[in-house]
Amino acid sequence: MSRDFLALVLAAGKGTRFKSNKIKVLHKLINKPMVQWTVDTIRKLKPDKIYIIVGFQKEDVQHAIGGDNVEYVIQKEQLGTGHAVMAAYDELKADEEKDLLVINGDLPLIQPDTLRLFYHYHRKQGNSLTFMTADLEDPTGFGRLIQGPEGYLSIIEEKDATPEQRKIKEANVGIYLFRIKDLLETIRRLDNKNVKAEYYLTDMIEIMGRSQKKVGPFKTKNVGEIIGVNDRMELAKAIDVLRLRKIQELTDQGVTILDPSSVWIDHDVHIGSDTTIYPFVTIECGSKIGKNCVIYSSSHIFQSKIGDDVRILPSTVIEESTVEKGVQVGPFSHLRPKTTIRSGARVGNFVEMKNTIFGRGSKAGHLTYLGDAQIGEKVNIGAGTITCNYDGIRKNKTIIDSEAFIGSGTELVAPVTVGKKAYIGAGSTITKNVSPESLAVARSRQVEKSGWMRRKKRILSGDKRD
Ligand code: UD1
Ligand code: MG
Repeated sequence: MSRDFLALVLAAGKGTRFKSNKIKVLHKLINKPMVQWTVDTIRKLKPDKIYIIVGFQKEDVQHAIGGDNVEYVIQKEQLGTGHAVMAAYDELKADEEKDLLVINGDLPLIQPDTLRLFYHYHRKQGNSLTFMTADLEDPTGFGRLIQGPEGYLSIIEEKDATPEQRKIKEANVGIYLFRIKDLLETIRRLDNKNVKAEYYLTDMIEIMGRSQKKVGPFKTKNVGEIIGVNDRMELAKAIDVLRLRKIQELTDQGVTILDPSSVWIDHDVHIGSDTTIYPFVTIECGSKIGKNCVIYSSSHIFQSKIGDDVRILPSTVIEESTVEKGVQVGPFSHLRPKTTIRSGARVGNFVEMKNTIFGRGSKAGHLTYLGDAQIGEKVNIGAGTITCNYDGIRKNKTIIDSEAFIGSGTELVAPVTVGKKAYIGAGSTITKNVSPESLAVARSRQVEKSGWMRRKKRILSGDKRD
């Protein structure tokens, strides 16, 4: 598209129908705020500038939207979509010769190609105003396109419409292209004589028509892109569309997703080719998964980096952690923030780690907690090993050097260091450092009293004989 148009996104409304403390356009869809979807789509068309009309929670909107070429215009009171455009009057005056794409901030599904077609149509027609419409099976909630007795087109909002008008299927999408000069010439004629007492942008259609400006609709066939997200149910529907688009993108790149209906993958997640994702997997918040991995059912990966050839067995949770190449984790493992599992290591059933580096080729197969620990290479951590890392005030560190062997049921009372190739006897409570290649056993000796049970039984039954 030629670089001679500006864009304006309407994002000042509260979104009352959301019943939320947060404004509507900041609600996220697969981890991207609603208004950011719209802005990112518009950016692909390369407008000279993007204005965003902000009002409620304007700082939060400004904070949420990243990137250059964006300017914010404040709409002090939210008196309607037409009033929102009027708020940018002075800014637009400087670019009168250009076109202006106005888009509601609650249309996260619209695709760049649809906007391109719309723009080219507008230019070809030489219109002062082109507005996008669509034939909808159920147009409830949308403004409807009508032609008045004098032949002028207009949009009648659902709330203002008669039962007869509500039967009309052609609906207003909420996307407009104006010649800025003609818009500014007429926009001050808007009034708020309607059920909601708002200044409707849609009234510009009739106003400009009556001013002998060329006005016309552009009907899109891509009805799947025009859900206006006004309540939480529409949010859920829009999320589902974007979720499936993301899955399509990943499968196109060579990822196998066995059950697209049950998998959740955020928009900013990367997955390498030949990786297989089983049902009910959630991968969130910019996580990166390598090639040729398998992620089994009910696992949850949050803001983490997973290398190539990793197997994540069922019901494993990985948060803010790194798992290197060739590792196997799970089932039922929990890697909490700041954990790194080095390549070739194994982490098994009911193992929890936090702020821990687990060395290359090391193993922790069963029922273990490692917190604030640094584990060397090829270390064997026996079942039921626990780092006692918290003394009630501080978090203390446990260091286990390479090739050490930690017997089952060991408690490591931090701060403590176990030297290279050291061996800890099962059931030990280790409170002092262990030197390299030594054996440490820290448990009471076993005592055996032969025949003790026979004597006990006799005493209990009242037999006085010894
Ligand atoms: C609007 C259209 C309707 C169309 C529908 C499509 C009007 C009057 N109606 O209705 O014809 O079928 O979109 O989805 O335009 N906003 C502001 N400032 C305001 C009011 C709203 O910035 O004072 C913003 C909102 O944040 C939102 C957008 O404008 O992003 C649309 O507002 P909304 O209240 O959702 O309008 P609809 O009732 O959906
Ligand atoms: Mg809306």
